This record gives sequence, structure tokens and C-alpha cells, in this order.
Amino acid sequence: MKNASALDRTFVALDNMSLKDVRIFLKSNPEIVNIKIGLELFLAHGPQIVHILRSEFQPLQKIFLDLKLHDIPQTVRKSIQALSGLPVDFLTVHLSGGREMLLAALQAQQASLQNTKLLGVSFLTSLDQHNFQELWGIKANDIAPAFQRLFSLALDVAVHGLILSPLELAQLKGKNILKITPGIRFAEDGKTHDQKRIATFEEAFNAGADYIVIGRSLTECTDIKKRLRDLASFPLPT
Ligand code: C5P
Repeated sequence: MKNASALDRTFVALDNMSLKDVRIFLKSNPEIVNIKIGLELFLAHGPQIVHILRSEFQPLQKIFLDLKLHDIPQTVRKSIQALSGLPVDFLTVHLSGGREMLLAALQAQQASLQNTKLLGVSFLTSLDQHNFQELWGIKANDIAPAFQRLFSLALDVAVHGLILSPLELAQLKGKNILKITPGIRFAEDGKTHDQKRIATFEEAFNAGADYIVIGRSLTECTDIKKRLRDLASFPLPT
């Protein structure tokens, strides 16, 4: 059996695409085995989008439904119950919804989505120092402790995984929780779009990511086949 490569652990974010675009994209790139469905596609098509893509694209292995739920506990519980039985491998909730919301989410997942892992989103990878100060009065030196508080909560309530920027991976070294990292750019990428907390995929895996999420650096690049080959030829660190 071939060793797992970075591509086996990459979720491609299907953002900014219509269903027609998604079909063309996945048909032309059968190397892609893991996808992330975000709010855009989910709001446009509802849960049906998961069934459509699962049945049309058999090479698909994992589907990550990135709804980033964040509401009062009962609303989050009911929302997860409404997804009952949906064949998704990962689902996101915001850690900043608090302990009670996370526990409600976990209860609902155990009752209605047993094959799905619940991932806690820490702070968005698009936030920078200025945003931390503006939103919560958190100064540069206090950003790492702010992440640490969210991580401690996640470990305490035992969500299955964390969404975090590559810059925070070091804080979780050795912790028994799945680590999934967006904010990935290729070394030759000049632009970072709206992302502030970024790294290359090699850096993210070497720093301990279990999975990465890549959107625009794949879906909007000029040579996607080369980038998919780069990912497929990068052996995961053991
Ligand atoms: O195009 P790009 O690679 O920046 O896309 C990153 C994807 O990861 C987007 O779909 C975004 O919603 C998601 N994401 C993120 N930061 C988080 C959680 C999810 O960028 N903290």
C-alpha cells in the first residue's frame, strides 16, 4: 500500500463555484479525494448537495461540511439534528459559542451524526492583530493565550478536532485531537487574498497538521495539475 501523501490529507474548498462549476472542476480533477462544502453551496442547494456529489463522484472519500455553527445551544442542537444521517465526515462549530453550545453540539452529533467528527473553529485565519484588538481588546502579546483558552475548552469538552491557523499548530503539539489547517498558500503564491495567518502546505504538515484545507491556491491557480502533483508527491511526516 502506498504511503499517505499530502493530497490524501487535503480538503479542497469548493468556494466561489456554482454546482455546474463544481461538477466541471471535480470531473477534470479526479485526483481530488477530499472536498470541503462551505456555506455558499450549502445555502444554494441544501443537504442535497452532499448526496449529489457523493453519488456523482465516486473517488470522493471525505466530505467536510463547513457550516461554522454559532448560536445558542438549543439552536445548534436542533440544527445538527436536522442534518441527521447526512454522509459528511467533518462538521464545524465555532468554539467561541462556549462550553454549553459545544456540549449540545456533541450530544446532537452522537445522536444524529454518528459518523461525523465535530470540529471546533478557533479564530478565523483571516483575522490579524488589528482585528483582535478591535474586536476583543486583545493585544499582540495576548493573542497566543487567547488561542490557548479556546484550545483548552476544546480539549476539555472533547470535540474531535480543531480548525486552526498554521501559526498555532505548535501550541497543540502532542495533543490528542485532530488538527485541520486552512490558510495554506504555495511558496510561489504572491497573494494571500483575505488570509492573514498563513503557511505553505509543507510547513503545515511538518508543524503537525493532520489535514489541510486549500481553496483559492488550487481552484484559482494557473496550473492545478502541477499543484496536485506537488501535494501527491509530498510524503507525510511520520
Ligand atoms: O481560499 P482559501 O484557501 O483561503 O480558503 C480557505 C477555506 O477555509 C475557506 O473555505 C474558509 O471558509 C475556510 N476557513 C478558514 N479559516 C478558518 C476556518 C475555515 O479560512 N478558521
